[in-house]
Amino acid sequence: MLRTTLLAASRAPRVRQVIEKLPPTRAIVQRFVAGDQLEDAVAVTDALVGGGRRITLDHLGEDTRDAAQAADTAAAYEKLLAALKETGLAERAEVSVKLSAVGQFLPADGARIALDNARRICEAAADAGTTVTLDMEDHTTTDSTLGIARELRADFPWLGVVLQAYLHRTEADCADLSSAGSRVRLCKGAYQEPASVAFQGKRDVDLSYVRCLKVLMAGEGYPMVASHDPRMIRIAGQLAQWEGRGLDTFEYQMLYGIRPEEQERLVDTGATMRIYLPYGGEWYGYFMRRLAERPANLAFFLRALATRD
Ligand code: FDA
Repeated sequence: MLRTTLLAASRAPRVRQVIEKLPPTRAIVQRFVAGDQLEDAVAVTDALVGGGRRITLDHLGEDTRDAAQAADTAAAYEKLLAALKETGLAERAEVSVKLSAVGQFLPADGARIALDNARRICEAAADAGTTVTLDMEDHTTTDSTLGIARELRADFPWLGVVLQAYLHRTEADCADLSSAGSRVRLCKGAYQEPASVAFQGKRDVDLSYVRCLKVLMAGEGYPMVASHDPRMIRIAGQLAQWEGRGLDTFEYQMLYGIRPEEQERLVDTGATMRIYLPYGGEWYGYFMRRLAERPANLAFFLRALATRD
């Protein structure tokens, strides 16, 4: 119920205006977001890389309203990738892209605009010597996103894609995407989805996550285990062992600001640990999804509101 309300609020412009103006909001957002500017993103990336992490950077922006804004987002990624190349961070930092931010939802020719912009970003990533992973949004976009990924992979075979274990279809999508060279970031899924397409209870989502992990770990691709859940992390490690996978054939991924001690523990085991690091001014939708995921995050936010001077 709370999760549903917060996810609805993540898409409500009036609630957004109120939350964005609350004085303690900025300080709390900093726990999950590197900052507004490219320089903030590069500085936090540098510090995390120094601590043994790999990074995937997300230039925040979901409500793209016209083709010019979509092109601006692609240009922001090009600038980011040039900065990663220049600072020598590209070897350890890639980028994550939401196709909605580069035009997927535009009424006229959205899929083509998103494809063209994503191609620009992939070209910049290739030039920098790094990779791109396409985020996954709500289920109405899954086919379009996988279609665009397929087209891009013809030229950029290293392109990764996110799959969401809460969708009924995902086990089959994992099988389709488990061939050699395929990079799949498996997460549970963060959107409000109907029962017709998605498992609703945590137990069912977790069971689906494990089934999907089994498919990916048994396949020939490169699984990216995106979860903070201790059980999923333990099971992923065991499956990798059973499949005889070396530590360089899969990786763990977590969101910036969540379970940093566990991130460190995994780095210490010799595993690859990648942090999803968002930056930019458009942090509202991302922030609200993080509050919806975990009551403790919301409690932290409410406590900060209650105790402000
Ligand atoms: P879940 O939320 O079920 O939590 C299980 C347990 O993990 C908790 O009981 C607790 O022990 C621990 N935990 C979780 N959150 C914690 C916190 N904040 N602090 C401390 N412990 C915590 N989603 C999507 O729909 N599309 C996408 O493209 C992406 N991309 C993406 C990339 C990466 C790298 C990650 C890590 C996640 C995503 N997600 C996503 C979000 C994902 O779908 C999901 O909503 C969150 O990761 C939360 O799910 P968990 O697997 O962490 O477990």
